[in-house]
Amino acid sequence: MTRPAPKIRYGGDYNPEQWPEEVWEEDLALFDRAGVDTLTVGVFDWALLQPAPDRYDFERFDRIMGMLRDAGKDVVLATATGAQPPWLARAHPDVTRVDFHGRRHLYGQRHNHCPNSPSFRRHAVALAERIAQRYGDWDNVVAWHVGNEYGGEGGACYCEHCAAAFRVWLRERYGTLERLNEAWNATFWSHTYTDFEEVVPPSAISEHWNGPDHTAFQGTTLDYRRFTTDSMIASYLAEKEAVERYSSGKPVTTNMMGLFRPLDYHRWAPHLDFASWDNYPPDARSQDRVALAHDLMRGLKGGEPFWVMEQTPSVTASRGVNPVKRPGVMRLWSWQAVAHGADAVLFFQWRQNRGASEKYHGAVLDHSGRDDTRVFREVAALGAELEALRGEITGARADHRVALLFDWDSWWAVEMSDGPSRLVKYVDVVRRWYAALQAAGAGVDVVPVDTDLAGYDVVVAPLLHVVEGDLPARLEEFVRRGGRLLTGYLAGRNDEDDNAPLADVPGFLADLLGVRVLETDALPAEERNGIAVDGREPLDSSLVFEVLQARGAEVVGTYTSDFYAGTPALTRHAVGDGSAWYVATDLDADGCAWVVARVLAEAGISSPYGGVPGLEAVERHRDDASYLFLLHHGSEPVEVVADRDGLSLLDGRAVRAGSVLALAPADVVVVRSEPRPRDGEVR
Ligand code: GLA
Ligand code: ZN
Repeated sequence: MTRPAPKIRYGGDYNPEQWPEEVWEEDLALFDRAGVDTLTVGVFDWALLQPAPDRYDFERFDRIMGMLRDAGKDVVLATATGAQPPWLARAHPDVTRVDFHGRRHLYGQRHNHCPNSPSFRRHAVALAERIAQRYGDWDNVVAWHVGNEYGGEGGACYCEHCAAAFRVWLRERYGTLERLNEAWNATFWSHTYTDFEEVVPPSAISEHWNGPDHTAFQGTTLDYRRFTTDSMIASYLAEKEAVERYSSGKPVTTNMMGLFRPLDYHRWAPHLDFASWDNYPPDARSQDRVALAHDLMRGLKGGEPFWVMEQTPSVTASRGVNPVKRPGVMRLWSWQAVAHGADAVLFFQWRQNRGASEKYHGAVLDHSGRDDTRVFREVAALGAELEALRGEITGARADHRVALLFDWDSWWAVEMSDGPSRLVKYVDVVRRWYAALQAAGAGVDVVPVDTDLAGYDVVVAPLLHVVEGDLPARLEEFVRRGGRLLTGYLAGRNDEDDNAPLADVPGFLADLLGVRVLETDALPAEERNGIAVDGREPLDSSLVFEVLQARGAEVVGTYTSDFYAGTPALTRHAVGDGSAWYVATDLDADGCAWVVARVLAEAGISSPYGGVPGLEAVERHRDDASYLFLLHHGSEPVEVVADRDGLSLLDGRAVRAGSVLALAPADVVVVRSEPRPRDGEVR
């Protein structure tokens, strides 16, 4: 038998153990009606599979697995450690975490184990191993899902196991106490450590300053966050390795959460066989935030396709107010994921939960189990659409000419920093620059700072507050060779220990940017300044105002008020064949768009689909075809002129370069064409 061509996977979390068996048969029929081919099972089944310390019971789970295999469905098999059974916490109180305030948690919730608890590790690994032994060679198990949303409801742990593990981690990182004391600038406030055993985790009862977000000793907290990420990675890896002993090379992942501050996903990425994430936008107007998160998740594995492991078909339950996705929006956002590189679109969950938590979280089937609901109809329609595109899109890469550097160390450092302003929020700033690029029609790769920049024409690096290793040299090389760098206030100021160099600000980037920061002013959000630029009204700026002296850079914009009126706020430094732009203050969306337009123009990047309100255009490429995705998030119909010949895959119509494509709100157009260079690149 020849295998069917691959398609975008479609389905989601399936937890039949929570429903009477009478509905299982209905489920199977409805899977087919919905076009569902892939189901994630077992995420929260620890108590089912191991009802007591010395007893495993696979009877019910075997039947679920057998039923799915017989029905020809692919399975993403979880290690069942997303939540713990009560007996485990009772027998081993150290599996529950100690929070920032030093309180040992009692049993309850999920995703909240201590990552360094030996009891948790032992039991979780044993369970993962049992599951893998049993189903590891099943053909229809297509991927493994370790744990669930690490750090999600818990966050860091501050227990004695973690304190001990932190000291070991520090010994490995620094080797000597001298290095540790230097990295933490410990002489300040007499913090000089004379023994690693003196170190305690920075928490509410030790090293802190106004809660977990700010800190007295920034280097210590930065290290604790790195350590927490590494601890959770170790917890994940222990299960992954247990799975790999039996799983015949099937890929292993865990579901990430996009723009999630507590864990540095770039540290985690090497340990994922593919990236996957759960997409729950906070509101209906955040398509650019979602696009940014997709691009960040794609960047975890160097641009390889990723999976949307979860999204709601209709509504979330976790927020204060939970609006339903309007007609067409679930489809639009699913295609947005595919446009940004997803090869799977999965839902949480198949059937709506009856009680406990998340009773009102949306599902493909609601409590009635009916298939004549709007949600089911939309799910089934998308399922049919994806099935009809079998053989298309999967494996295609979304590689772009613009890189946006995203850095958890800088995120942490900026937001924990004692000055200049607690109003500066990393993701808000990154998002504004990203949205400006997106609105201009530029595709963006959101990548870690150690990415090879050689393939890019533009690098955007907002709030690059912590600068590690050879990054300044690599940025300079990038610019010299003709690249355009766009960065701004607070960049270049600290080394990887979050210590400032004894040099002019912006420290590590001063020469490249050709400016010196003389002072850094911060004002309440409502106190704005203007930036005078050629040929238009002044740009609007707020929050942080660096007072600059141009030292080689050309002045593009100047402040319009305050004692620094008339001094540079926006500069461009020509270096080699390229240029380095510096924005010394926080611009609003309009200001970012103005700057981005100039930088893209210098780099020769333009899109025929830029500047259309609400329209998002993204490309993916394979050796045999290119795919252009046009997604209309706006509320008014728009028309664009096609820039290529091709086939509009969703309605089967031929597209000619120069012909008009009309999009109503929530419309999606996918044009397949001959392979094309990336984002209009001239080769
Ligand atoms: C997360 C979890 C799921 C569920 C959904 C919906 O993504 O992984 O178990 O809680 O959110 O809230
Ligand atoms: Zn702990």
